[in-house]
Amino acid sequence: MKSVVIEQPNQLTVADRPLPQPAAGEVRVKVKLAGICGSDSHIYRGHNPFAKYPRVIGHEFYGHIDAVGEGVSPSRLGERVSVDPVISCGHCYPCSIGKPNVCTELVVLGVHRDGGFSEYAAVPARNAWKIPETIADEHAVMVEPFTIAANVTGQAQPTENDIALIYGAGPMGLTTLQALKGVYKVKQVIVADRIDERLAMARNSGADWVINNSQRPLQETLAEKGIKPTLIVDAACHPSILQEAIALASPAARIVIMGFSSEPSQIIQQGITGKELSIFSSRLNANKFPVVIDWLARGLIDPGKLVTHKFDYQHVTDAIELFEKDQRQCCKVLLTFN
Ligand code: NAI
Ligand code: MN
Ligand code: ZN
Repeated sequence: MKSVVIEQPNQLTVADRPLPQPAAGEVRVKVKLAGICGSDSHIYRGHNPFAKYPRVIGHEFYGHIDAVGEGVSPSRLGERVSVDPVISCGHCYPCSIGKPNVCTELVVLGVHRDGGFSEYAAVPARNAWKIPETIADEHAVMVEPFTIAANVTGQAQPTENDIALIYGAGPMGLTTLQALKGVYKVKQVIVADRIDERLAMARNSGADWVINNSQRPLQETLAEKGIKPTLIVDAACHPSILQEAIALASPAARIVIMGFSSEPSQIIQQGITGKELSIFSSRLNANKFPVVIDWLARGLIDPGKLVTHKFDYQHVTDAIELFEKDQRQCCKVLLTFN
């Protein structure tokens, strides 16, 4: 079989690899579609501290089960599945309280273990989630990015009366936006970004108000209208944003951060305690595949609005380069495997 392998930073090959045999408790997935994410590009460029090389990248993928390992029911053969990349031990403290996404022995497919940019991938059977017939392939491949939004909103518990502010209209901001509007019916969702084309995508995904904050500080624009957001999601993840979010938040607001910057954020306790703000963080997803599959089955979200490009996996280098260089035109780029 062919796999997309990062041999070492900046060296990508489409290599021949032996067809994996599913171990006990595993299934083999014949991959049909996969999504490119920022973290794939980071592993490619050597910017992911967790990555070990060589590595088959890809943690957003969909296909069907074509082989099962010992202990897995053969009735699963042929099942259409999306694969949760989060593999956890099941017994450590975070696992015991329902947070397998921060398991002390966390393994993420496509990061710590070979992933889904491959014609076939062997994965734990319990990570392969059945996709109902009514959900299209192009939607099924988008389950994982929406589980990030499901995790964020699971932390913040949005209500219809929230005034929500999302920083960043990339894939993460847009999945969060669709969840806030489509699932939680939040009446007012504001999205800020530096790029007008991205803000147009946010409008298309249901934003009530979009703000380009490249020229003027966001705080000024919001203050002018007397708006104090009650729920803020930082899906842009610059270390300076937390400081600004604390300043412009309503008293009693919730803030969710999801960045991995190693640079310090300058925050003052008074700004947080004075308004009794709640600050959450969100990493990957904690058992959110069934949640998002249900959202899709009920038509509450529309992943198609995020997909801007499709490439055959043979052209993966072109696909990643376009994804990296052109944030104006690109949002989610898919790879097809046939
Ligand atoms: P992206 O780079 O496509 O989107 C980020 C957007 O934020 C861009 O459109 C950019 O113009 C905008 N932006 C940058 N600085 C801004 C500012 N000061 N104000 C407003 N907008 C600003 O990235 P993507 O894929 O949407 O991911 C966003 C972030 O989420 C990344 O930092 C990534 O590392 C993180 N992430 C975290 C995950 C988690 O589980 N915690 C999962 C996936 C991504
Ligand atoms: Mn991703
Ligand atoms: Zn664990």
